[in-house]
Amino acid sequence: MSDPCQPEPSFRSIVVIDGPAGAGKSTVAKGLAKKLGVAFMDTGAMYRALTVKAIRRRVKLDDEPALAALAAETRIELVNEPGKALKVLLDGEDVSEAIRSVEVTNTTFYVARAAAVRHIMVAWQRQMGQQQALVGEGRDLGTVVFPQAEFKFYLDADFAVRCQRRIDELRAKGQAVDEAALKKDLADRDQKDFTRKVGPLKKAEDAVLIDSTRMSADQVIEALAQRIQNKK
Ligand code: DC
Repeated sequence: MSDPCQPEPSFRSIVVIDGPAGAGKSTVAKGLAKKLGVAFMDTGAMYRALTVKAIRRRVKLDDEPALAALAAETRIELVNEPGKALKVLLDGEDVSEAIRSVEVTNTTFYVARAAAVRHIMVAWQRQMGQQQALVGEGRDLGTVVFPQAEFKFYLDADFAVRCQRRIDELRAKGQAVDEAALKKDLADRDQKDFTRKVGPLKKAEDAVLIDSTRMSADQVIEALAQRIQNKK
């Protein structure tokens, strides 16, 4: 993930941002990583990438041992290149777009709830954290993956605002949006995230809660950067 041609960043810590879908974690984590000059780690993208492979291989998504076996023979890489969007490689293939399909979005929870898969993902994520400073985002980074992270945030926003952000995002991409279906999907995803037996979404006790309901992404990035600066 790190580029040997780039100067070593002066910031050498792990920053984690957990929170529910649609709270703006990706935008904020990406922006903050850029500001700090470190790697961006999108852990949801890793669960999504494995889901792409499981669908292609027709692995039954409720077959946990099969999913774990698949994970064990898979290589998922997150490639940070300066000035470019994060690239997600699945066994060397760029799946950055494929992981965002509706089918993958709606089925990744199967992969994410499999304990043995999470075990493997967590090990990969810790390895990335050992190799470089990074800003990571997900659901269990502050609680499970990096409980010792120097900077922990939990990013939240009102449900209606999270829905509206997703609607705006899809419309900006020119996609038609069924608002009622989108709201139901987001409520379902919340329910699955909060009630997963392993690695459920939960604010780490020592994470700073940021409610972004009335904040722009830039304001959130600035607020997080300030807190990091003040604590350093
Ligand atoms: O953040 P996202 O929508 O890309 O996440 C995709 C899925 O992966 C979603 O079902 C939640 C799950 N996930 C997880 O269980 N643990 C993480 N650290 C990140 C995502």
